[in-house]
Amino acid sequence: MRMVDLIQKKRDGQQLSTEEIQWIIEGYTNDTIPDYQISALMMAIYFKGMTEQERADLTMAMVASGDQIDLSAIDGVKVDKHSTGGVGDTTTLVLGPLVAAVGVPVAKMSGRGLGHTGGTIDKLESISGFHVEINKDEFIDLVNKNKLAVVGQSGNLTPADKKLYALRDVTATVNSIPLIASSIMSKKIAAGADAIVLDVKTGAGAFMKTLEDSRELAQAMVRIGNNVGRRTLAVISDMSQPLGWAIGNALEVNEAIQTLKGEGPEDLTELCLVLGSQMVYAAGQAETLEDARQQLIKVINTGEALEKFKTFVAAQGGDASVVDDPSKLPQAKYQIELPAKEAGYVSSIVADQIGTAAMWLGAGRATKDSVIDLGVGIVLTKKIGDEVKAGEPLAVIHSNTEEVNHVKEELYRSILLSKEPVTPPVLIHEEITE
Ligand code: URA
Ligand code: CA
Repeated sequence: MRMVDLIQKKRDGQQLSTEEIQWIIEGYTNDTIPDYQISALMMAIYFKGMTEQERADLTMAMVASGDQIDLSAIDGVKVDKHSTGGVGDTTTLVLGPLVAAVGVPVAKMSGRGLGHTGGTIDKLESISGFHVEINKDEFIDLVNKNKLAVVGQSGNLTPADKKLYALRDVTATVNSIPLIASSIMSKKIAAGADAIVLDVKTGAGAFMKTLEDSRELAQAMVRIGNNVGRRTLAVISDMSQPLGWAIGNALEVNEAIQTLKGEGPEDLTELCLVLGSQMVYAAGQAETLEDARQQLIKVINTGEALEKFKTFVAAQGGDASVVDDPSKLPQAKYQIELPAKEAGYVSSIVADQIGTAAMWLGAGRATKDSVIDLGVGIVLTKKIGDEVKAGEPLAVIHSNTEEVNHVKEELYRSILLSKEPVTPPVLIHEEITE
Protein backbone atom coordinates (compact mmCIF):
# COMPACT_ATOMS: atom_id res chain seq x y z
CA MET A 1 0.00 0.00 0.00
CA ARG A 2 1.12 3.55 -0.65
CA MET A 3 -0.16 6.41 1.44
CA VAL A 4 -0.33 8.76 -1.53
CA ASP A 5 -2.83 6.45 -3.25
CA LEU A 6 -5.03 6.34 -0.18
CA ILE A 7 -5.01 10.13 0.16
CA GLN A 8 -6.01 10.37 -3.50
CA LYS A 9 -8.77 7.82 -3.03
CA LYS A 10 -10.32 9.82 -0.19
CA ARG A 11 -9.74 13.11 -1.99
CA ASP A 12 -11.82 11.70 -4.88
CA GLY A 13 -14.62 10.72 -2.51
CA GLN A 14 -14.11 6.96 -2.49
CA GLN A 15 -14.43 4.68 0.51
CA LEU A 16 -11.33 3.35 2.27
CA SER A 17 -11.40 -0.34 3.20
CA THR A 18 -11.06 -1.75 6.72
CA GLU A 19 -7.51 -2.96 5.91
CA GLU A 20 -6.51 0.42 4.49
CA ILE A 21 -7.73 2.28 7.57
CA GLN A 22 -5.94 -0.18 9.89
CA TRP A 23 -2.74 0.21 7.85
CA ILE A 24 -2.91 4.02 8.05
CA ILE A 25 -3.51 4.12 11.81
CA GLU A 26 -0.80 1.54 12.54
CA GLY A 27 1.66 3.40 10.33
CA TYR A 28 0.88 6.71 11.98
CA THR A 29 1.13 5.28 15.49
CA ASN A 30 4.56 3.74 14.85
CA ASP A 31 5.85 6.80 12.93
CA THR A 32 6.23 5.15 9.53
CA ILE A 33 3.70 7.52 7.96
CA PRO A 34 4.65 11.20 8.34
CA ASP A 35 2.48 14.02 9.70
CA TYR A 36 2.23 15.75 6.32
CA GLN A 37 0.54 12.79 4.65
CA ILE A 38 -1.86 12.30 7.56
CA SER A 39 -2.62 16.05 7.47
CA ALA A 40 -3.58 15.77 3.83
CA LEU A 41 -5.78 12.77 4.58
CA MET A 42 -7.49 14.58 7.47
CA MET A 43 -8.26 17.51 5.19
CA ALA A 44 -9.65 15.13 2.55
CA ILE A 45 -11.86 13.55 5.24
CA TYR A 46 -12.90 17.01 6.41
CA PHE A 47 -14.28 17.74 2.93
CA LYS A 48 -15.42 14.29 1.77
CA GLY A 49 -16.63 12.79 5.04
CA MET A 50 -16.62 9.11 5.94
CA THR A 51 -19.18 6.33 5.51
CA GLU A 52 -20.61 4.52 8.52
CA GLN A 53 -18.28 1.59 7.84
CA GLU A 54 -15.23 3.87 7.66
CA ARG A 55 -16.15 5.57 10.94
CA ALA A 56 -16.49 2.23 12.71
CA ASP A 57 -13.19 1.04 11.20
CA LEU A 58 -11.35 4.22 12.21
CA THR A 59 -12.71 3.94 15.76
CA MET A 60 -11.62 0.33 16.17
CA ALA A 61 -8.21 0.98 14.56
CA MET A 62 -7.59 3.70 17.15
CA VAL A 63 -8.77 1.38 19.94
CA ALA A 64 -6.25 -1.22 18.70
CA SER A 65 -3.40 1.33 18.63
CA GLY A 66 -2.79 1.02 22.39
CA ASP A 67 -3.83 -0.77 25.58
CA GLN A 68 -7.41 -1.89 26.09
CA ILE A 69 -8.80 -2.21 29.60
CA ASP A 70 -10.32 -5.59 30.27
CA LEU A 71 -13.25 -5.29 32.67
CA SER A 72 -14.61 -8.77 31.99
CA ALA A 73 -13.94 -9.78 35.62
CA ILE A 74 -16.67 -7.36 36.67
CA ASP A 75 -20.15 -8.88 36.73
CA GLY A 76 -22.81 -7.23 34.61
CA VAL A 77 -22.89 -4.73 31.76
CA LYS A 78 -20.34 -1.95 32.29
CA VAL A 79 -21.86 1.35 31.17
CA ASP A 80 -19.77 4.46 30.77
CA LYS A 81 -20.98 8.03 30.35
CA HIS A 82 -19.27 10.76 28.41
CA SER A 83 -20.04 14.48 28.27
CA THR A 84 -18.70 16.53 25.40
CA GLY A 85 -17.33 19.30 27.56
CA GLY A 86 -19.17 21.24 30.17
CA VAL A 87 -18.39 23.78 32.86
CA GLY A 88 -19.21 22.91 36.44
CA ASP A 89 -20.55 19.60 35.19
CA THR A 90 -21.22 17.70 38.38
CA THR A 91 -23.16 14.89 36.66
CA THR A 92 -20.41 12.25 36.98
CA LEU A 93 -20.23 12.69 40.76
CA VAL A 94 -23.98 12.22 41.02
CA LEU A 95 -24.47 9.51 38.39
CA GLY A 96 -21.87 7.09 39.80
CA PRO A 97 -23.61 6.51 43.17
CA LEU A 98 -27.07 6.99 41.68
CA VAL A 99 -26.91 4.20 39.10
CA ALA A 100 -24.71 1.99 41.32
CA ALA A 101 -27.48 2.18 43.93
CA VAL A 102 -29.85 0.44 41.51
CA GLY A 103 -27.25 -2.24 40.76
CA VAL A 104 -25.51 -1.03 37.60
CA PRO A 105 -21.72 -1.50 37.89
CA VAL A 106 -19.76 1.74 37.41
CA ALA A 107 -16.05 1.17 36.76
CA LYS A 108 -14.90 4.71 36.16
CA MET A 109 -11.52 5.77 34.84
CA SER A 110 -11.15 9.50 35.22
CA GLY A 111 -8.65 12.21 34.53
CA ARG A 112 -7.63 15.44 36.15
CA GLY A 113 -8.87 18.68 34.68
CA LEU A 114 -6.99 21.18 32.56
CA GLY A 115 -8.36 24.75 32.41
CA HIS A 116 -11.83 25.57 33.78
CA THR A 117 -12.47 23.54 36.95
CA GLY A 118 -10.86 20.26 37.89
CA GLY A 119 -11.75 16.83 36.61
CA THR A 120 -13.73 14.23 38.55
CA ILE A 121 -10.61 13.05 40.41
CA ASP A 122 -9.70 16.55 41.58
CA LYS A 123 -13.23 17.03 42.84
CA LEU A 124 -13.21 13.73 44.76
CA GLU A 125 -9.82 14.53 46.26
CA SER A 126 -11.38 17.49 48.04
CA ILE A 127 -12.70 14.79 50.41
CA SER A 128 -9.95 14.24 52.96
CA GLY A 129 -8.12 10.93 52.47
CA PHE A 130 -9.84 9.99 49.21
CA HIS A 131 -7.41 8.42 46.78
CA VAL A 132 -7.58 6.88 43.31
CA GLU A 133 -4.22 5.11 43.38
CA ILE A 134 -5.62 1.60 43.56
CA ASN A 135 -4.38 -1.33 41.51
CA LYS A 136 -6.41 -3.17 38.94
CA ASP A 137 -7.39 -6.08 41.20
CA GLU A 138 -8.54 -3.76 44.00
CA PHE A 139 -10.47 -1.71 41.46
CA ILE A 140 -12.29 -4.76 40.11
CA ASP A 141 -12.97 -6.10 43.62
CA LEU A 142 -14.43 -2.75 44.68
CA VAL A 143 -16.74 -2.57 41.69
CA ASN A 144 -17.92 -6.15 42.25
CA LYS A 145 -18.54 -5.45 45.91
CA ASN A 146 -19.92 -1.87 45.90
CA LYS A 147 -20.84 -1.47 42.20
CA LEU A 148 -18.72 1.71 42.08
CA ALA A 149 -15.05 2.67 42.03
CA VAL A 150 -13.00 5.44 40.43
CA VAL A 151 -9.42 4.96 39.34
CA GLY A 152 -6.88 7.33 37.77
CA GLN A 153 -6.14 6.93 34.10
CA SER A 154 -3.24 4.60 33.51
CA GLY A 155 -1.74 2.78 30.60
CA ASN A 156 -1.32 3.81 27.03
CA LEU A 157 -4.89 4.25 25.79
CA THR A 158 -5.54 5.23 22.14
CA PRO A 159 -2.11 6.73 21.31
CA ALA A 160 -3.28 7.11 17.69
CA ASP A 161 -6.06 9.43 18.86
CA LYS A 162 -3.62 11.54 20.90
CA LYS A 163 -1.36 12.03 17.87
CA LEU A 164 -4.24 12.67 15.49
CA TYR A 165 -5.95 15.14 17.80
CA ALA A 166 -2.77 17.16 18.23
CA LEU A 167 -2.26 17.18 14.46
CA ARG A 168 -5.88 18.13 13.73
CA ASP A 169 -5.58 20.97 16.22
CA VAL A 170 -2.90 22.67 14.10
CA THR A 171 -4.28 21.80 10.66
CA ALA A 172 -7.84 23.16 11.01
CA THR A 173 -9.38 19.68 10.89
CA VAL A 174 -10.78 19.31 14.41
CA ASN A 175 -14.28 20.26 13.38
CA SER A 176 -15.20 17.19 11.38
CA ILE A 177 -18.08 15.08 12.70
CA PRO A 178 -16.63 11.67 11.67
CA LEU A 179 -13.26 12.55 13.22
CA ILE A 180 -14.71 13.88 16.49
CA ALA A 181 -17.13 10.95 16.77
CA SER A 182 -14.49 8.27 16.25
CA SER A 183 -12.05 10.09 18.56
CA ILE A 184 -14.50 10.15 21.47
CA MET A 185 -15.83 6.63 20.89
CA SER A 186 -12.36 5.08 20.63
CA LYS A 187 -11.45 6.34 24.11
CA LYS A 188 -14.62 4.97 25.74
CA ILE A 189 -14.23 1.58 24.05
CA ALA A 190 -10.54 1.28 24.94
CA ALA A 191 -11.48 2.04 28.57
CA GLY A 192 -13.61 -1.11 28.59
CA ALA A 193 -17.19 0.09 28.19
CA ASP A 194 -19.79 -2.49 27.10
CA ALA A 195 -22.40 0.24 26.71
CA ILE A 196 -22.06 4.00 26.37
CA VAL A 197 -24.29 6.96 27.23
CA LEU A 198 -23.37 10.26 25.64
CA ASP A 199 -24.26 13.73 26.86
CA VAL A 200 -23.76 15.98 23.86
CA LYS A 201 -23.84 19.61 24.93
CA THR A 202 -25.27 22.27 22.70
CA GLY A 203 -25.33 26.07 22.89
CA ALA A 204 -22.97 28.95 23.48
CA GLY A 205 -20.77 27.19 26.04
CA ALA A 206 -20.49 23.97 24.03
CA PHE A 207 -18.21 22.54 21.38
CA MET A 208 -21.22 22.27 19.05
CA LYS A 209 -23.03 25.60 18.94
CA THR A 210 -26.15 24.59 16.99
CA LEU A 211 -28.73 21.90 17.62
CA GLU A 212 -28.24 20.55 14.08
CA ASP A 213 -24.50 19.99 14.59
CA SER A 214 -25.03 18.48 18.02
CA ARG A 215 -27.65 16.10 16.66
CA GLU A 216 -25.37 15.06 13.81
CA LEU A 217 -22.50 14.37 16.24
CA ALA A 218 -24.75 12.45 18.63
CA GLN A 219 -26.19 10.33 15.83
CA ALA A 220 -22.72 9.66 14.44
CA MET A 221 -21.49 8.38 17.82
CA VAL A 222 -24.63 6.31 18.47
CA ARG A 223 -24.20 4.62 15.06
CA ILE A 224 -20.52 3.91 15.62
CA GLY A 225 -21.23 2.36 19.01
CA ASN A 226 -24.04 0.18 17.76
CA ASN A 227 -22.05 -0.82 14.67
CA VAL A 228 -19.17 -2.08 16.80
CA GLY A 229 -21.39 -3.96 19.26
CA ARG A 230 -21.66 -1.40 22.08
CA ARG A 231 -25.18 -0.37 22.97
CA THR A 232 -25.02 3.43 22.72
CA LEU A 233 -27.57 6.12 23.57
CA ALA A 234 -27.33 9.90 23.66
CA VAL A 235 -28.88 12.99 25.15
CA ILE A 236 -28.54 16.45 23.67
CA SER A 237 -28.52 18.87 26.58
CA ASP A 238 -28.28 22.61 26.92
CA MET A 239 -24.98 24.34 27.69
CA SER A 240 -26.10 27.92 27.26
CA GLN A 241 -25.37 28.28 31.00
CA PRO A 242 -23.47 26.19 33.58
CA LEU A 243 -25.31 23.26 35.11
CA GLY A 244 -26.41 23.65 38.70
CA TRP A 245 -25.19 26.49 40.91
CA ALA A 246 -21.63 25.54 41.82
CA ILE A 247 -18.41 25.76 39.81
CA GLY A 248 -15.40 24.63 41.83
CA ASN A 249 -14.15 21.35 43.25
CA ALA A 250 -15.40 21.05 46.87
CA LEU A 251 -18.37 23.27 45.96
CA GLU A 252 -19.41 20.72 43.33
CA VAL A 253 -18.94 17.79 45.72
CA ASN A 254 -21.31 19.57 48.08
CA GLU A 255 -23.75 20.13 45.22
CA ALA A 256 -23.55 16.44 44.28
CA ILE A 257 -24.32 15.44 47.90
CA GLN A 258 -27.37 17.73 47.92
CA THR A 259 -28.52 16.24 44.61
CA LEU A 260 -28.15 12.65 45.86
CA LYS A 261 -30.31 13.68 48.81
CA GLY A 262 -32.97 14.98 46.42
CA GLU A 263 -32.23 18.60 47.37
CA GLY A 264 -30.04 19.59 44.44
CA PRO A 265 -30.57 22.21 41.71
CA GLU A 266 -33.43 21.38 39.37
CA ASP A 267 -31.43 21.31 36.13
CA LEU A 268 -28.62 19.13 37.51
CA THR A 269 -31.16 16.74 39.05
CA GLU A 270 -33.15 16.43 35.84
CA LEU A 271 -30.09 15.83 33.64
CA CYS A 272 -28.84 13.17 36.07
CA LEU A 273 -32.22 11.44 35.96
CA VAL A 274 -32.27 11.49 32.15
CA LEU A 275 -28.67 10.27 31.74
CA GLY A 276 -29.03 7.83 34.63
CA SER A 277 -32.16 6.34 33.07
CA GLN A 278 -30.28 5.75 29.83
CA MET A 279 -27.44 4.09 31.76
CA VAL A 280 -29.78 1.76 33.65
CA TYR A 281 -31.65 0.96 30.44
CA ALA A 282 -28.43 0.39 28.46
CA ALA A 283 -27.23 -1.97 31.20
CA GLY A 284 -30.37 -4.03 30.68
CA GLN A 285 -31.70 -3.35 34.19
CA ALA A 286 -34.95 -1.74 33.06
CA GLU A 287 -37.53 -2.53 30.38
CA THR A 288 -38.12 1.11 29.53
CA LEU A 289 -36.52 4.48 30.20
CA GLU A 290 -39.51 5.39 32.38
CA ASP A 291 -39.04 2.23 34.48
CA ALA A 292 -35.36 3.15 34.88
CA ARG A 293 -36.29 6.67 35.98
CA GLN A 294 -38.67 5.34 38.65
CA GLN A 295 -35.88 3.10 40.01
CA LEU A 296 -33.56 6.13 40.30
CA ILE A 297 -36.15 8.34 41.98
CA LYS A 298 -36.77 5.55 44.46
CA VAL A 299 -33.11 5.24 45.55
CA ILE A 300 -32.93 9.00 46.02
CA ASN A 301 -36.07 8.98 48.17
CA THR A 302 -35.00 5.99 50.28
CA GLY A 303 -31.53 7.43 50.90
CA GLU A 304 -29.83 4.46 49.20
CA ALA A 305 -28.12 6.72 46.61
CA LEU A 306 -26.59 8.86 49.35
CA GLU A 307 -25.60 5.74 51.32
CA LYS A 308 -23.87 4.39 48.17
CA PHE A 309 -21.83 7.58 47.95
CA LYS A 310 -20.70 7.13 51.58
CA THR A 311 -19.73 3.50 51.02
CA PHE A 312 -17.78 4.43 47.89
CA VAL A 313 -15.93 7.32 49.58
CA ALA A 314 -14.98 5.21 52.61
CA ALA A 315 -13.84 2.29 50.40
CA GLN A 316 -11.32 4.59 48.73
CA GLY A 317 -9.95 5.98 52.00
CA GLY A 318 -12.07 9.12 52.15
CA ASP A 319 -13.75 10.69 55.17
CA ALA A 320 -17.39 9.73 54.56
CA SER A 321 -18.60 11.95 57.40
CA VAL A 322 -18.43 14.92 54.96
CA VAL A 323 -21.62 13.55 53.45
CA ASP A 324 -23.54 14.33 56.64
CA ASP A 325 -21.49 17.41 57.40
CA PRO A 326 -20.34 19.10 54.16
CA SER A 327 -18.81 21.96 56.20
CA LYS A 328 -15.86 19.56 56.67
CA LEU A 329 -15.02 20.04 52.97
CA PRO A 330 -12.29 22.58 52.14
CA GLN A 331 -13.74 26.09 52.31
CA ALA A 332 -12.46 29.37 50.94
CA LYS A 333 -11.61 32.15 53.39
CA TYR A 334 -13.76 34.82 51.73
CA GLN A 335 -17.26 34.75 50.30
CA ILE A 336 -17.72 37.82 48.14
CA GLU A 337 -21.03 38.73 46.54
CA LEU A 338 -21.33 39.97 42.99
CA PRO A 339 -24.13 42.55 43.08
CA ALA A 340 -26.21 43.25 39.97
CA LYS A 341 -25.37 46.72 38.63
CA GLU A 342 -28.95 47.24 37.48
CA ALA A 343 -32.34 45.52 37.56
CA GLY A 344 -33.37 43.14 34.79
CA TYR A 345 -33.67 39.51 33.75
CA VAL A 346 -30.68 37.20 33.31
CA SER A 347 -30.37 36.58 29.56
CA SER A 348 -27.10 34.72 29.29
CA ILE A 349 -24.42 33.11 31.46
CA VAL A 350 -21.44 32.29 29.28
CA ALA A 351 -20.29 29.00 30.75
CA ASP A 352 -16.70 28.92 29.57
CA GLN A 353 -16.03 32.47 30.80
CA ILE A 354 -17.39 31.50 34.23
CA GLY A 355 -15.04 28.52 34.08
CA THR A 356 -12.14 30.82 33.29
CA ALA A 357 -13.02 33.07 36.23
CA ALA A 358 -13.10 29.99 38.50
CA MET A 359 -9.68 28.98 37.17
CA TRP A 360 -8.26 32.40 38.08
CA LEU A 361 -9.44 31.84 41.64
CA GLY A 362 -7.42 28.62 41.64
CA ALA A 363 -10.19 26.07 40.99
CA GLY A 364 -8.63 24.89 37.72
CA ARG A 365 -5.21 24.39 36.18
CA ALA A 366 -3.72 27.04 33.92
CA THR A 367 -0.95 24.55 33.08
CA LYS A 368 -0.54 20.81 33.65
CA ASP A 369 1.56 21.43 36.77
CA SER A 370 -0.63 24.03 38.52
CA VAL A 371 -1.87 23.08 41.98
CA ILE A 372 -5.62 23.31 42.49
CA ASP A 373 -7.19 25.23 45.36
CA LEU A 374 -10.02 22.84 46.25
CA GLY A 375 -12.21 25.20 48.27
CA VAL A 376 -12.54 28.09 45.82
CA GLY A 377 -15.00 28.70 43.01
CA ILE A 378 -18.19 30.44 42.05
CA VAL A 379 -21.75 29.79 43.17
CA LEU A 380 -24.39 31.26 40.90
CA THR A 381 -27.44 32.68 42.62
CA LYS A 382 -29.38 33.46 39.45
CA LYS A 383 -29.95 31.48 36.27
CA ILE A 384 -31.24 32.46 32.82
CA GLY A 385 -34.79 33.83 33.04
CA ASP A 386 -34.53 34.89 36.70
CA GLU A 387 -35.52 38.42 37.65
CA VAL A 388 -32.84 40.47 39.44
CA LYS A 389 -33.11 43.68 41.44
CA ALA A 390 -30.26 46.19 41.37
CA GLY A 391 -27.74 45.25 44.08
CA GLU A 392 -29.02 41.70 44.45
CA PRO A 393 -26.23 39.10 44.16
CA LEU A 394 -25.83 37.37 40.80
CA ALA A 395 -23.21 35.02 42.22
CA VAL A 396 -20.98 34.48 45.23
CA ILE A 397 -17.21 34.28 44.73
CA HIS A 398 -15.46 31.81 47.04
CA SER A 399 -11.86 33.00 47.22
CA ASN A 400 -8.75 32.72 49.34
CA THR A 401 -7.76 36.29 48.55
CA GLU A 402 -9.77 39.48 48.94
CA GLU A 403 -8.45 40.90 45.70
CA VAL A 404 -10.96 39.58 43.15
CA ASN A 405 -11.60 42.57 40.89
CA HIS A 406 -10.47 40.81 37.72
CA VAL A 407 -12.75 37.87 38.59
CA LYS A 408 -15.67 40.23 39.19
CA GLU A 409 -15.09 41.92 35.87
CA GLU A 410 -15.01 38.60 34.02
CA LEU A 411 -18.25 37.60 35.73
CA TYR A 412 -19.92 40.88 34.79
CA ARG A 413 -18.89 40.18 31.20
CA SER A 414 -20.37 36.65 31.34
CA ILE A 415 -23.65 37.18 33.22
CA LEU A 416 -25.74 39.40 30.97
CA LEU A 417 -29.03 41.10 31.84
CA SER A 418 -31.91 42.18 29.64
CA LYS A 419 -34.66 44.70 30.37
CA GLU A 420 -37.27 42.36 28.89
CA PRO A 421 -38.36 39.06 30.50
CA VAL A 422 -36.37 36.07 29.23
CA THR A 423 -37.61 32.50 28.71
CA PRO A 424 -35.32 29.94 30.40
CA PRO A 425 -33.64 27.56 27.92
CA VAL A 426 -34.88 24.02 27.37
CA LEU A 427 -32.57 21.63 29.26
CA ILE A 428 -33.04 18.39 27.32
CA HIS A 429 -33.31 18.99 23.61
CA GLU A 430 -33.47 15.41 22.43
CA GLU A 431 -32.85 11.83 23.39
CA ILE A 432 -31.36 9.50 20.81
CA THR A 433 -32.04 5.85 21.48
CA GLU A 434 -31.73 2.91 19.09
N1 URA B 1 -12.95 15.75 21.89
C1 URA B 1 -12.29 14.62 21.56
O1 URA B 1 -12.02 13.78 22.42
N2 URA B 1 -11.94 14.43 20.29
C2 URA B 1 -12.19 15.31 19.32
O2 URA B 1 -11.86 15.06 18.18
C3 URA B 1 -12.88 16.50 19.67
C4 URA B 1 -13.24 16.69 20.97
CA1 CA C 1 -22.39 22.57 38.86
